[in-house]
Amino acid sequence: MRAGRTSRTIAIVLALSLVATACGDTGDGADPEEPSRSPDMPPAATPPERDHTPDGLDERDTLRSVAPDGFRIGTAVAGGGHHEDQPVSDPFNTDEQYRELIGKEFNSVTPENHLKWEMVHPEQGVYDFERADEIIAYAREHDQVVRGHTLAWHNQNPAWLEEGDFSADQLREILRDHIHTVVGRYQGQIQQWDVVNEIFDDDASWRGTIWYEALGPDYVADALRWAHEADPEALLFLNDYNVEGINAKSTAWYELIQDLLADDVPVHGFGVQGHLSIEFGFPGDVQANLERFDALGVKTAFTEVDVRMVLPDDGVPTEAQLERQADDFGRLLGACLNVEGCDSFTVWGFVDTYSWVPAFFPDQGAATLMSEGLTRKPAYHELQRLLAQARSGGEGR
Ligand code: XIL
Repeated sequence: MRAGRTSRTIAIVLALSLVATACGDTGDGADPEEPSRSPDMPPAATPPERDHTPDGLDERDTLRSVAPDGFRIGTAVAGGGHHEDQPVSDPFNTDEQYRELIGKEFNSVTPENHLKWEMVHPEQGVYDFERADEIIAYAREHDQVVRGHTLAWHNQNPAWLEEGDFSADQLREILRDHIHTVVGRYQGQIQQWDVVNEIFDDDASWRGTIWYEALGPDYVADALRWAHEADPEALLFLNDYNVEGINAKSTAWYELIQDLLADDVPVHGFGVQGHLSIEFGFPGDVQANLERFDALGVKTAFTEVDVRMVLPDDGVPTEAQLERQADDFGRLLGACLNVEGCDSFTVWGFVDTYSWVPAFFPDQGAATLMSEGLTRKPAYHELQRLLAQARSGGEGR
C-alpha cells in the first residue's frame, strides 16, 4: 500500500514545521535555508574510514551485545512509506545486509510506517497487517521487543478517514474499533505502544487534528483506556518531538500525564522522539526533563533519535559535523542511562541510505549511525562506548 499523496504532503509540512520550531526551541540561529541536496541526487560519498572502536571493545561488539541487561536499544525498520517515492527500494525485504544488521545490532524494533493508519487501515473497515506482521515475526525470531507506532496522529491518515465527514460519535466509534483491532491483534507481542503522537503545538496549545476537533481532549484518555482493554500488558506511551528539554510543550505533556494519572487512566510512559539537528544548540535540561516524568512514576524513552545536518556541497559530512553529531547522540543516550525509568532508546533508522531525513529536509542528511555502505560513524561508536560503560557499572555521562 503506497503512502497517499495528501498525507505525504501533510507530512512534509509537518517536517518543515519541525525545522522551524526546533529553531524556536533552542534559539541559536540555525539557517534552514542552506543550498539543498535533493533526494534524487546520488547518495553522499562515504567519508574516509577510520577505526573509532572504543578502547576495550571489538568490531564484533554490536550495540545490543554491549547494552546493560534489560536496556532496549532499538531502531525503526524501514520498508515502505516515503521510501516508495524515493530512489531506494524497500530495504527490509530487499537489502539482506541491512536486514541482518537489524537483528545483530538491536534488541527492539519499531515499524517505521506499517502500523500507521494509512498502511494498516487503508479503507474503512479494511485492515492490512501483512507488512507489520513481517516485522513482528522478524522481531520474534531475533529475540527483540516491538514498539508500536502509532494509534492516533494527524499525519499519514487515509483519505477515507480525513475526508469522510464523520460525526463526533462516528469518529469515536472508528477510533475505538481501530485501537481494539490493531492492539488486539498484537496482544502480547508489542511491548510499548505510542498511543497518541504529537498532540500539542510548540506553544503547548492542542493541535487541531480530526480527533481533537471532533472529540476534544478526552480522546486521549479514551484511546489509552481502549488500548489497555485490548492489551493489558502493553506499556502505553504518549510521544512527541521538540520535548527533549524542559519547555512549554514538554510541560504541557507533564501536566496532562499528571491529570491522567490522577484520573486513573492507564498511561505508562512518555516518549521523546529526539529528532535533533546540529544546526541548533543541544536542548537544555534533557536529564532534568526525564527526571520529572520519572518522579511522576511513568517510564521515559527516546523513540526516534536522529541527528541531521546541512551537508557540504560534496555531500560528505565534515569530521567536525560527525563529532558534533556523535556528541548529540551520546548526550541523549547518556541522559537516558542516568535516569532509572528510561530503559529504551530507539534510533529512527541506522543507515543514512534509508533515512527519512533527505526526503523531508531537502538540504539535510547524514542523520543516522552508519553512512552508505553500512560504515559505522563516530555516533555509532559513541553509543557503543556509553552502553558498554553503563553495562560495566559506570555513569551514563
Ligand atoms: C516518518 C517516516 O520516517 C517516513 O518514512 C514517513 O514518510 C513519514 O513519517 N515523527 C514521527 C514519525 O512520529 O512517524 C515520522 O516518521 C517522523 C516524525
